[in-house]
Amino acid sequence: MPQPQPAVPSVPASLPTVVIGDDHFELYLSAAAIAARIKELGAEIEKDYAGKRPIFIGILNGAFIFLADLIREVDLDVEMDFFKLSSYGDAKISSGNVQLLKSVDAKLAGRDIIVVEDIVDSGLSMNYIRRQLLTLRPASLRFCTLLYKEEVAKLEFEVDYIGFKIPKHFVIGYGLDYQQLKRNLKDIYKLAE
Ligand code: IMP
Ligand code: MG
Repeated sequence: MPQPQPAVPSVPASLPTVVIGDDHFELYLSAAAIAARIKELGAEIEKDYAGKRPIFIGILNGAFIFLADLIREVDLDVEMDFFKLSSYGDAKISSGNVQLLKSVDAKLAGRDIIVVEDIVDSGLSMNYIRRQLLTLRPASLRFCTLLYKEEVAKLEFEVDYIGFKIPKHFVIGYGLDYQQLKRNLKDIYKLAE
């Protein structure tokens, strides 16, 4: 009699460590913790923008997953578009040179804009985006980031919505990459020291 096939063991949705070359990353923020925090941010934004029609501007590539989850927690008429910036290349630290690779298609004058970032590290990108957007004379301009490296961020203004303040870890997953990889991890991992 052939033995019944053993059931495939259930594996965790994501493994606790990720290895890229010589670099080891450990689980840092679970998908559940991220989702719970985004629900709170969405509720806050929904309250703040009641009766309005904000346009969310995600910063590509990193913010695409966060933006997608965030706007689904905001029960208002919302629009969205993207900016694409480049500053990191494939390195773990910023080159310090921010470039605008794609601007938005929508007219932004007189609009209520919410910029959505995956992470603020040096703050160079956000300072740059803010200066660009202010020249377009929006009705209002606010900023939302999932992660904020408080010790190193040098911003010319206050971020309105912050998911988590974190130390200066290098992190991957949930949209954040290292050498363009690992954006598709459901959880966020940090580089092990
Ligand atoms: P900043 O201009 O130094 O604030 O860097 C902002 C951009 O760099 C973010 O939008 C990210 O795309 C990228 N970045 C900053 N820190 C990390 C990190 O820890 N992991 C992956 N990407 C990061
Ligand atoms: Mg980015």
